[in-house]
Amino acid sequence: MSDTITIKKPFDAHVHLRRGAMLRAVTPITAERFASAIVMPNTEPPIDTVEMAAEYKKEILAAVPVGNSFEPLMTLYLTKNLTPAEIEKGVGNIHGVKSYPYGATTNSQWGYRSILEAKDVLKKMEEVGMPLLLHGEVHLNEHNEEEDPYDGERLFITDILPRLLDAYPRLKVSLEHMSSASAVDFMEKNGKEGQLVATITPTHLLYDRRQAFSGGYRPLIHMKPLVKTSADRERVRDIAKKGLPFISAGTDSAPHPEGKKFSSCCAFGTFTSPVAVEVYTQIFDELGCLDKLENFLSINGPRFYGVEPSKETITLVKKDWQTTDPVVTDEGVNLWPICNTVHGLGNETIHWQIAK
Ligand code: NCD
Ligand code: ZN
Repeated sequence: MSDTITIKKPFDAHVHLRRGAMLRAVTPITAERFASAIVMPNTEPPIDTVEMAAEYKKEILAAVPVGNSFEPLMTLYLTKNLTPAEIEKGVGNIHGVKSYPYGATTNSQWGYRSILEAKDVLKKMEEVGMPLLLHGEVHLNEHNEEEDPYDGERLFITDILPRLLDAYPRLKVSLEHMSSASAVDFMEKNGKEGQLVATITPTHLLYDRRQAFSGGYRPLIHMKPLVKTSADRERVRDIAKKGLPFISAGTDSAPHPEGKKFSSCCAFGTFTSPVAVEVYTQIFDELGCLDKLENFLSINGPRFYGVEPSKETITLVKKDWQTTDPVVTDEGVNLWPICNTVHGLGNETIHWQIAK
């Protein structure tokens, strides 16, 4: 394979752009690297009306650099306030509804304990073709007891997801951030273009739990779903390598202020957008499947969401680099990306970079 690759400008099927100063700091980073992105709604307060999504979109667009045509695609949070009428109202402007299991991750306190409880909304979504984006973990069981967080995705895949798909056979579903062999096995069997798709983060391709505890606890790679065993990571890599039309990149770039990552209760979320395209490329190169990169990064996501792939291109070159500094907000808050040499794992050279 050559040392240069040109692909259509990528599509991020899962990004957290936050609000305020964080939004102003991270939106240009995503806009430089991605033509378009599915923007997650777990802000505070959560985005659960079409009107709030429109306001949020305006705030994002105001932070996009002049001359950049980045398009944020908006989603709604499946809170208990979200009604079937709101789903109907969102057709054409809202690209998906995100489900967070109550308590499982950052700002998940407005979610249902189980997605299966949201019957009327799901029925309407199925009827109008609105995609359901799943944080596919069981956090609390039916007695409201916490499950083992290493097991939450497997429980969701084996118990909840089959019931969901049986009950709503025409519902369009995206299983976000696959992290386990269970998720990969399920998608290999049941994934279907336009119907049941899944995303993969750079974090779950790069790391397993050995790195999460390498020399001590590593806040920068602490996210939900947790990074798992090396065997799980291998399975995630396997499915990426297959080049299936229903698997795409979703960075799950989820910045948190330095004080929330390096604290007594480390926030869930890895800030990946500054390195994600390069890391995906590096791993596809390692796996010998650079020919599958463009579909994964730039084609499969847009196809599921019914938008055109970008007409712009980016070129990546095989050349080592390192990321050393945090992104600093205009309020002076540090946001540390994964792979940085200061808080990383100590061997953070990335082998591909975006050509200027
Ligand atoms: C995300 C965040 O910080 O908003 N965190 C994470 O660990 N992935 C929320 C999410 O997608 O679960
Ligand atoms: Zn996320």
